[in-house]
Amino acid sequence: MDRFKDKVVLVTGAASGIGRATAERLAAEGATLSLTDVNLEGLEETAATCRGLGATVRAEFADVSSEESVAASVGGTVEELGRLDVLVNVAGILQFKDARSTTLEDWNRIIGVNLTGTFLMCREALPYLLQTKGNIVNTASTASLHGHPWTVSYSASKGGVYAVTMTLAVEFGKLGVRVNAVAPGGIETPIQNAFEVPEGADPKLIYRIMPLDRMRGPETVAATVAFLASEDGAHVNGEIVRVDGGTHA
Ligand SMILES: NC(=O)c1ccc[n+]([C@@H]2O[C@H](COP(=O)([O-])OP(=O)(O)OC[C@H]3O[C@@H](n4cnc5c(N)ncnc54)[C@H](O)[C@@H]3O)[C@@H](O)[C@H]2O)c1
Repeated sequence: MDRFKDKVVLVTGAASGIGRATAERLAAEGATLSLTDVNLEGLEETAATCRGLGATVRAEFADVSSEESVAASVGGTVEELGRLDVLVNVAGILQFKDARSTTLEDWNRIIGVNLTGTFLMCREALPYLLQTKGNIVNTASTASLHGHPWTVSYSASKGGVYAVTMTLAVEFGKLGVRVNAVAPGGIETPIQNAFEVPEGADPKLIYRIMPLDRMRGPETVAATVAFLASEDGAHVNGEIVRVDGGTHA
């Protein structure tokens, strides 16, 4: 498939997990890529794999929680690659903690990356996406949709990503820009290292975040992102697609 031939796609959080798998999937489908992350070592590994798949790749440090960094990253992408067709917001962080011991610092850090980062990236990219009639795919979570224990900051941030997605979809849909989100459930990536049942908590609640059959890898999310971002998803706007192995079926 060559669904992203002549398309420039910016992927945040591309050094690892879902962002890396998405970059690789889009490279295999012909995309020109702008890849960003705060982890430069992982980013270079992803960039090398994507170049090996034939893609032109720009890779640079960008912290999505920083307004300056986001502006430089989006502006630099268009300056160097000439246009922007798709923005895929994947960068994110996770924390498992009892709500009672969640500090304001924890809260601000997680909201800052997951929610503010998504908003800043969308805001900076939209003027260019309006030129190309492009689209955005955000990374929400099943935590956007249903109660997940021990993740009060994370779940609030992902609920916010859902709201940002729906708001931008109606605000820009008539102008030709689609905005959708994926909502992964438990996916095997390094972020799962944060998984921990807080002391004294009821471990039976884990069923709320586990797939019905078995865990799968980030390529399952990447395939859904590729569908939404491509012309195959042309009539899909303002949608949140769960990729969770039926957790909440
Ligand atoms: N893996 C899961 O089970 C799961 C489930 C639901 C949602 N998600 C979401 O998927 C996204 C990707 O997670 P993953 O599972 O691939 O985890 P991951 O830890 O493998 O990847 C996250 C990436 O985001 C980057 N990142 C962190 N802070 C950043 C910042 N300030 N600026 C730029 N990059 C930053 C990290 O360096 C890392 O490369 C996240 O938004 C996460 O919340 C994951």
